Amino acid sequence: MSQPEIFRTIAEMRAAVARWRGQGEKIALIPTMGALHAGHLSLAEFARAKGFGRTVYSIFVNPTQFAANEDFGAYPRTFAADVDKLASIGADGCFAPPPEEIYPAGFSTKVIPGGPALAGLEDKFRPDHFAGVAQVVAKLLNQAQADGACFGEKDFQQLAVIRQMARDLDIPTQIFGVPIKREADGLAMSSRNVYLSAEERGQAVLLSQVLSETAEAIRAGKDVSALCAAAAQKIEAGGFALDYFEARHAESLAPVAALADGPVRLLVAARLGRTRLIDNMAV
Ligand code: PAF
Repeated sequence: MSQPEIFRTIAEMRAAVARWRGQGEKIALIPTMGALHAGHLSLAEFARAKGFGRTVYSIFVNPTQFAANEDFGAYPRTFAADVDKLASIGADGCFAPPPEEIYPAGFSTKVIPGGPALAGLEDKFRPDHFAGVAQVVAKLLNQAQADGACFGEKDFQQLAVIRQMARDLDIPTQIFGVPIKREADGLAMSSRNVYLSAEERGQAVLLSQVLSETAEAIRAGKDVSALCAAAAQKIEAGGFALDYFEARHAESLAPVAALADGPVRLLVAARLGRTRLIDNMAV
């Protein structure tokens, strides 16, 4: 089992990327905040299937995308276990910079995303979140200078924001969205699932169940807004505090009234105890 090369600086990562490119390889960057699970690991599999010979994971818990009342301090940090997992899948590199490599003294540039960042989904509940995400992802893409970058579809609005940002800022890295990896019962894999108590973990499966039955009913031609209202009720009856359950256009994230307005994506965010879960599904 070969260990990934660990890069602490941008210069180290760029030197490896240049070396691999010189050997005729295509490189994929996989940005993460660590606490890696099978969903993260499936991104490398996806990259290889797309012809990327080398994969570099970045692990950086980005402070600028957390609000003061969010879990930046408590976010799971499991670096040694993460590196073991990367070794087990044959990842080539791991960029794990100290905070000052990303935000050196005097750093002052903000990235203010528009379009999908203002869709009225996550942004309604986490108003500064996507500015932090766009800022760090713009930096990571420039830092790595990889040919492609892979992001999970679980953070569906985030993926749309990143695609738009990369297009608007002429970042040449090709952006890929990778299907959600689910636990056996359907719960979308997430680093935050570790916050769930055993009882909450049992309840959490409701989100994917409701998404999938709602998607099926929409495909069968039933009324989209009535179905979304019923889905919201079921989720609240299951013990969640619901932030939203919405049917949106899969690319623009604009609200949709009917299947014909699609491709339709269902998106949900809800809190179970202290844990906020998000999930989404294609119709
Ligand atoms: O999805 C995440 O893990 C993060 O938002 C990302 C894209 C790595 C940026 O910090």
